[in-house]
Amino acid sequence: MQKTITIIRTEHRRLAAIINCFVGVLSDMENTNADPDFGLLDQVHEYCRSFLYKFHHPKEDGYLFPALVQARPDLLPVISKLESEHERGVTLLDQLDQALASLKEDPRKNLGLYIQVAKTYRDFEWKHMATEEKEILPQAEKSIPEDVWKELDNVFSDHDDPVFGDKPQGNYENLLSQIVNRAPSPHGLGE
Ligand SMILES: [Fe+2]
Ligand SMILES: [Fe+2]
Repeated sequence: MQKTITIIRTEHRRLAAIINCFVGVLSDMENTNADPDFGLLDQVHEYCRSFLYKFHHPKEDGYLFPALVQARPDLLPVISKLESEHERGVTLLDQLDQALASLKEDPRKNLGLYIQVAKTYRDFEWKHMATEEKEILPQAEKSIPEDVWKELDNVFSDHDDPVFGDKPQGNYENLLSQIVNRAPSPHGLGE
């Protein structure tokens, strides 16, 4: 398997771990009267905003998708749909931030709204990721030529990338560990 494909799949697994954790925490919030852990929710929002929208999706938009369209013009419709989902995700995340701000102001009154917006966001990211896993990555692996993979592998490995900075992956891994360690059992490793 190409290095880039392995990296993208790993990044998807990490996001899936965060989303699963988030789902568990949301379900606890729905089913118990426990106060929301705002610090944890802030970290989940931050992970999605920074990792997904400043790092993962820009690399797909800037490098993988153009290389795939070049090799497989017939895939343009699905790639265009995924690109527009990257834009829509920013709007949904803004709505999620607003719902969290309302939740902080009045947890009792605004819990239902937050959970509703969070579930919409969760379902959206999950479906987006599934489309990439099933419809894009297998085709990319078969169609993109070897010399182009070399360039993609450099970008996706973060080696001195001018756009994404010096080893930003480490920062995201730290944030991911903090979330998993803070989320209560059985969703994470916290108490
Ligand atoms: Fe994407
Ligand atoms: Fe992706």
